[in-house]
Amino acid sequence: MKPNRISRRDFVKRSGTAGLLMMGMKQLTFAKAVEQTGLKDAFKDRFLMGTAISPRSFEMEGYQALVKREFNAITAVNDFKWERIQPEEGKFEFGWPDQFVEFGQAKGMCCVGHVLVWHSQCPDWVFMNGDKPASKALVAKRMENHIGSVVERYKGKLQVWDVVNEAVDFSNNGPSANGWRKSKWLETMGPEFVDRSFHLAHEADPKAELLYNDYEMQNPGRRDFVVNMIKDFKKRGVPIHGVGMQGHVHLGRPSIEAIDAAITAYATEGMKVHITELDVDVLPMDNKLWGADIATRMEYRNQLDPYTEGLPAEIEQRLTQRWVDLFELFIKHQDSIERVTTWGSHDAESWKNWFPIPRRTNYPLLFDREMKPKRAVEAIKKLVE
Ligand code: GLA
Repeated sequence: MKPNRISRRDFVKRSGTAGLLMMGMKQLTFAKAVEQTGLKDAFKDRFLMGTAISPRSFEMEGYQALVKREFNAITAVNDFKWERIQPEEGKFEFGWPDQFVEFGQAKGMCCVGHVLVWHSQCPDWVFMNGDKPASKALVAKRMENHIGSVVERYKGKLQVWDVVNEAVDFSNNGPSANGWRKSKWLETMGPEFVDRSFHLAHEADPKAELLYNDYEMQNPGRRDFVVNMIKDFKKRGVPIHGVGMQGHVHLGRPSIEAIDAAITAYATEGMKVHITELDVDVLPMDNKLWGADIATRMEYRNQLDPYTEGLPAEIEQRLTQRWVDLFELFIKHQDSIERVTTWGSHDAESWKNWFPIPRRTNYPLLFDREMKPKRAVEAIKKLVE
């Protein structure tokens, strides 16, 4: 099966600067390029540069300008999730998703749909029939209706879908016996809920690029499980085109070698690799909490929040180096990597100030709390100059 790939060059071509160049308006183009150069321009021959946006950030002064200048791909943080887009059966909330798509389309950006089927942020009614658990047939019908309605509405407008999010069980030593995460989806439909989601998304928009998305995708146990899933999907004609490696990483882990090996493993299966939710956590972390299960919470303690007054120079240097190491790796795999998306743009909006411990001061993104580029931005751009 040949995946329907989006072409990053198409997006670049559609963007203002290149479009004007093609029309021969070189003078004007130069002025525009100086004004608008950002990460998307630095990496334009390699991969798309994306960010995740939410309605709250969208209203902040200077935010839209930042997104337009730096990025050519967008994901909505929450507003395509089931609990937001179909909070009650048959009641769809397309208001903000429509605005999101209009914003992205107006700028020729790649718009990513996140997410169709996930155990989290999915309302209880999906699995209930009155006060009894819903049957497999009813849940399957609801899935069909949800995916059909949402994907068809944005057919041709969203180029990529995270079809299934976080369906694999997680432990540091590898997946558990059956490998699939215990969830209502698994409980009611069995593992076929994963196949079914991909088939339905493909029927609704045959041109969209369909991804399996998860965290800790470099963990060898998870990686091997996902590789086997892909092999099995290919054998059975389940339409999967790529993987989303979320990439919620920390200063010291996971190792670049592990990420490297995983990208190679997915690419070897013919998958396009998308880095879908990148951020770099600099704060102390309890060993039990690696990963990004959003159900995890810990209590606030001062010693777990050491940088409220700013980052010490030594930590900032390590942080810059971490971004450099990651981008060096992405550049090495530029033929397999379609997109690198950071989970937000500037530190103030990051979920990492709240997860897994609320109200900490974290520094996980490429732009600071005033939306100014950090040293890491210059440093990763230098890699391609
Ligand atoms: C996971 C999900 C995202 C988001 C983050 C937390 O990674 O895929 O949608 O909820 O958790 O912000």
